[in-house]
Amino acid sequence: MACKCDNEVCYAELDKFIAEGHYDDPDSLIQVLHHAQHLFGYLPREVQIYVAKKLDIPIAKVYGVVTFYTFFSETPRGENVIQVCLGTGCFVKGAAKVMESFENELKIKQGETTEDMQFTLSAVRCVGACALAPVVMINDKVYTHVDPSSVKRILEKYLISAAS
Ligand code: FES
Repeated sequence: MACKCDNEVCYAELDKFIAEGHYDDPDSLIQVLHHAQHLFGYLPREVQIYVAKKLDIPIAKVYGVVTFYTFFSETPRGENVIQVCLGTGCFVKGAAKVMESFENELKIKQGETTEDMQFTLSAVRCVGACALAPVVMINDKVYTHVDPSSVKRILEKYLISAAS
């Protein structure tokens, strides 16, 4: 989850992270982007430009990494990020129906965030647990053998914790 700091504090925190961890060379790009996303909640273009300048690398390289890896996001994400695996192993076990069930419950499509910023729904390729398909990750928690009919129950836990 992103910190709730304003941008100035986030940039200062990012500077500190880079300085303290000696992440000031181009090979550190992924670690720096991870931390930047943790601080800002996502990676808007101005943050990507800032990172490129700090590491002294072309913005195109930063952009290439951000758009290649699905765990980086250029748009604000919800408090809870749902990742439905649509890799082949999960797909043949009905992952498309699981995705449809999340879309119906949340009233958003894959790639979108709910208006209240509680949930972002996205698809991922294989997460390496094909024997447990279909697999869904919500934040750091992994759900296995997910059935479309269990989606509502899974979501309720997050709705309850948001309300408390
Ligand atoms: S295809 Fe979903 S975990 Fe491998």
